[in-house]
Amino acid sequence: MDKIKIRGGKQLNGEIFISGAKNAALPLICASLLTDETVTLTNMPILSDIKSMNLLLEQLGTKIDAFDDFVDGHPTKTYSYRTQELTSIAAPYDYVRKMRASYYVLGPLLARAGKVELSLPGGCAIGTRPMDIHLAAMEEMGAKIDIRNGYVYGEVEGRLKGAHIVFRNVSVGATCNVLMAAVLADGITVLENAAKEPEIGDLINLLNDMGAKISGIGTSILTIEGVEKLHGARHKVIPDRIEAGSYAVAAAITGGKIELINAQPNTLKTPMQILQKMGVDVSPTERGILVDASNKKIIGEDIITEPFPGFPTDLQAQFMSLLTVAEGAGMVTETIFENRFMHVPELMRMGANINVHGHASAIVRGVKKLSGAPVMATDLRASFALVLAGLAAEGETIVNRVYHLDRGYEKLEDKLRGVGADIERIKEAEEE
Ligand code: EPZ
Repeated sequence: MDKIKIRGGKQLNGEIFISGAKNAALPLICASLLTDETVTLTNMPILSDIKSMNLLLEQLGTKIDAFDDFVDGHPTKTYSYRTQELTSIAAPYDYVRKMRASYYVLGPLLARAGKVELSLPGGCAIGTRPMDIHLAAMEEMGAKIDIRNGYVYGEVEGRLKGAHIVFRNVSVGATCNVLMAAVLADGITVLENAAKEPEIGDLINLLNDMGAKISGIGTSILTIEGVEKLHGARHKVIPDRIEAGSYAVAAAITGGKIELINAQPNTLKTPMQILQKMGVDVSPTERGILVDASNKKIIGEDIITEPFPGFPTDLQAQFMSLLTVAEGAGMVTETIFENRFMHVPELMRMGANINVHGHASAIVRGVKKLSGAPVMATDLRASFALVLAGLAAEGETIVNRVYHLDRGYEKLEDKLRGVGADIERIKEAEEE
């Protein structure tokens, strides 16, 4: 397994191009299953999760073409997806266990084929993450759902029916699945307590460009008037707000100055406000967001994770790394996932002073310096938090289990090296 070696203490300055959003791209790919025409997605990030989703779609009968492309002079990928005919309706265990977002085929397959066999993803490192909200919604739309041998078997006679659905709590994934199921349903679906994340807006824009009739974008009540058929479309994936927020912390934790090219300020309001309260200058520019921490003292601040537009759980670990070297203390409260402090013991091995209370809150008291160490994390965002700690630490940090990072951070070492970091990937074969 590859590792990442960092020699900390370098101030990071320059610009970083923000790639297309992984968590937008994954449901967009699955939306292509809703038509027999071609759906083309541009500004796609080059990530292992995208490759995994592409493999799953190929297994369902989708023909995929990949093209090298450029966005604002930066190399990206464009993929075109065409599912003239579904050759399978199954998302087998081997796909789902590698990537739980495979569950985004649930809505599209029920809508297009009236049938689905989906392996249940089970829990993961950050929480139990059940699928009950997705499944209850499909039942409300007329699907018969049966769970056997670790699989969800879903079936509907004729078309799904429009329904009035009220989520018991906000779920990004279930909102996407309801949208993709309801666009081809018979009648009108009203979804209350829907997630408002920008990635949902991106999905709605693609679906509407494909001929769907969805209103309420950006609000918690979505109305979907079912249509009989959707057609192909071309769509540019939105920039990744979590990648942008992660590199904003890289600037802050090293006392540097980085312009985040293509980052969208309206998708990052809460985390950028927190950064400002912590003493960092943050300003929108013509090309994105400028984060300037040069000659600034970082001050402790409390953080609570919430659904959008609140502070994203996917930036909690990275901001905790920043708090470890802040002046004073900050309380971090995680309200979305029940087990998302797995980075804490690793940060403590680097000298951080953190006290966890139960599962949901942690007090971080800033220390003068972290010291480099070999570390490992159990999920994508926690792994990036350790990279950040390594950038700020004295000495050498080795981050193990780099495959987590490859799922969601495109060209991470290149991007950080481009702003002055001393970072390299050690390939497994190179290890002594
Ligand atoms: C999405 O996961 C993201 N994944 C996650 O990003 C992100 O952390 C999360 O939304 C919250 O923003 C993708 O977009 C692929 P949820 P999702 O359904 O959709 C509970 C990353 O690092 N819940 O909004 O799975 C659930 O357990 C990843 O990129 C149920 O109880 O999250 C959680 O506590 C990690 N029943 C809460 O709701 C359900 O049926 C929110 O989960 C569904 C969810």
